[in-house]
Amino acid sequence: MRPVFIDSPWFGGDYNPEQWPEAVWDEDVDLMRRAGVNLVTVGVFAWSLLEPEEGRYEFGWLDNVLNLLHESGVKVDLATATAAPPPWLSHQYPESLPVTADGVRLSPGSRQGYCPSSPAYRRAAGRLARKLAERYGSHPAVVMWHINNEYGCHVSRCYCEESASAFRRWLEAKYETIDALNVAWGTTFWSQSYGSFEQILPPRATPAFPNPTQSLDFDRFSSDELLACFLEEKAILRELTPNIPVTTNFMGTFRNVDYWTWAPHVDVVSDDLYPDPADPDAARGSAMARDLMRSLGRGKPWLLMEQSTSAVNMRPVNVPKAPGQMRALSYQALARGADGILFFQWRQSAAGAEKFHSAMLPHAGTDTRIWREVVQLGAELATLGSVLGARTQAQAVVVFDWDSRWAIEQAGLPAASSYLALAAHWHAALTEAGLTVDLSRGDEDLSGYPIVIVPSLFVMTDAQAAAIDAAARAGSTVLVTSQTGIVDENLRVRLGGYLGDLQSTLGVWIEEFWPLGGAWARPGAIPVTPESTVVPTVQVRGDVFGPETATGIEWSETVHVRDAAVRAVFEGGHLTGWPALTRRSHGAGTAWYLATRLGREDTARLVAHLIAESGLQVRTPVVGDELGFVETVQRGEALFVINHGPTAVMLAQDGTDLLTGGDARGMTLESQGVAIIAPRVTLDSEDDAVGAADERVRIPR
Ligand code: GLA
Repeated sequence: MRPVFIDSPWFGGDYNPEQWPEAVWDEDVDLMRRAGVNLVTVGVFAWSLLEPEEGRYEFGWLDNVLNLLHESGVKVDLATATAAPPPWLSHQYPESLPVTADGVRLSPGSRQGYCPSSPAYRRAAGRLARKLAERYGSHPAVVMWHINNEYGCHVSRCYCEESASAFRRWLEAKYETIDALNVAWGTTFWSQSYGSFEQILPPRATPAFPNPTQSLDFDRFSSDELLACFLEEKAILRELTPNIPVTTNFMGTFRNVDYWTWAPHVDVVSDDLYPDPADPDAARGSAMARDLMRSLGRGKPWLLMEQSTSAVNMRPVNVPKAPGQMRALSYQALARGADGILFFQWRQSAAGAEKFHSAMLPHAGTDTRIWREVVQLGAELATLGSVLGARTQAQAVVVFDWDSRWAIEQAGLPAASSYLALAAHWHAALTEAGLTVDLSRGDEDLSGYPIVIVPSLFVMTDAQAAAIDAAARAGSTVLVTSQTGIVDENLRVRLGGYLGDLQSTLGVWIEEFWPLGGAWARPGAIPVTPESTVVPTVQVRGDVFGPETATGIEWSETVHVRDAAVRAVFEGGHLTGWPALTRRSHGAGTAWYLATRLGREDTARLVAHLIAESGLQVRTPVVGDELGFVETVQRGEALFVINHGPTAVMLAQDGTDLLTGGDARGMTLESQGVAIIAPRVTLDSEDDAVGAADERVRIPR
């Protein structure tokens, strides 16, 4: 297999020349050269042009595009074009269109209009992938395959008859007998016992809650079914072009596809991410997505396949990126392990559904802010080859698990929760404290991390419980938060007080959930959304939070201590005096349990405590970051410092800034400013030359 990366970061974007007359293409490649573009993704939405009718292929135009790019030195990530089926497919095979839970068959005229289980779609997609591999597998411009596009983005669950029979086959392979399924799904309740697999349907619209385990299995099936589409195309490409790496673009922390099961199947992890510039916390959320991408690839470099240069057009209001923000977010990706920065798309469309989505080359042309920022970034990246391949170092890990996500967001639970918000809260708190964070499904060795956070691991497997326990024993500071270890992988409650096997790790067990919202909860403390202006809260008192009380949000529960120190208690309401935060020494480490949710400041206080206990030293390379928007990440020898805040800060770190060549210490970092600081190294051969001017920066790989 050829290497995915070269000695300079990949830089470019989706190139859709089919939207333009050929006369424009020469200008495209000329401008690509000026911008430093070295990789483009071609053909993502070209199926209807590549195969205008079933079995008739027209590759002439694509030959010309690839040849032109090759002559211009631009490499190609060639798409298999199967994400947007052409009108003829659904015209000839109407059953290939997806159906919603309430039975509506979606119409063509947009994109992703296919049922992942449709044999007609699968056949046609496989045929096209084969044709493309046969024709372009040895084209010198093609360095990577881009299978489909953003699997599951618009249609991640299909409830049609073909999906129903694929679901039955998946269940039969999993459970083997209908009796085993009945036990797993708990079908004795509400008279749901099945006599055969033939009786089973997807969880379509039902009168009351559908069976929870049926729903979770359907989530798992739907993720696997999309993966099966990917694997069918991948097998064809591998057979014909074993040397060309394959990828497909993930979508950050996207809910409906379990990326832990997908990641081992791609040769390089790639990501599409569109943080909202109107959100002051955008850089916090994007930091988590990028950390997830690195973690999915087990620390290997990944590819930012798509981002916008400025505004998108998918939100009700689409605010442009601030001057410099695209650059700052690009460096965030590089800092967190990306070895390439690409965009959707090269030239802004004049027609179609995304014509108001920004691009590298805007409607107004090259005398524009966006174009200048693109050219600047391209030029800078070309000098940063020394950063590539290096590992980003994390000091903490947050467990992030799709089964728990799907299950804790079902109906019929003690309270509604957003799993992503719960996990992102802890990722952001650790990041703001200056740590870099990996993510993990939690069933692997976690013991290398000084800090391990387990937010609401609702569905907990034995392997996860064992890994969490082992981390504490081995010396990690572990924090487990409420609603962990409630059910097993079939959603059967772990009886005998909640927390399952973690009861012995934590030295506590949970008797009863007490979500806030009753009359005794203290309303009014924290505004959240315009629709719901208050969140119910309860007071929490303990030395960790100092002399003031902390505020527990939305959740409390009755915690019984067997063998742990109580570090904070609830105050006010029915649980006054009951534990809210506990700590137990466990082997060489500690195991904390938090029985509520905390706001940002209280979380920061607890995190500071955990950091101190873990013995980690956190570096603060800037002065003046009162607002806490400066991001610091160590990648290999390079320290990335990125100012996402509105005001300037000053660097207080020795070294050389790779972007300016200047001394880092004392440098001012304006809003959206970036420094990449490398240690100064004096080259021996030049020791006797003219002093400081001869210092060079070397970054060991
Ligand atoms: C996704 C898709 C692109 C484009 C962008 C717009 O990432 O892959 O085709 O639609 O969104 O933001």
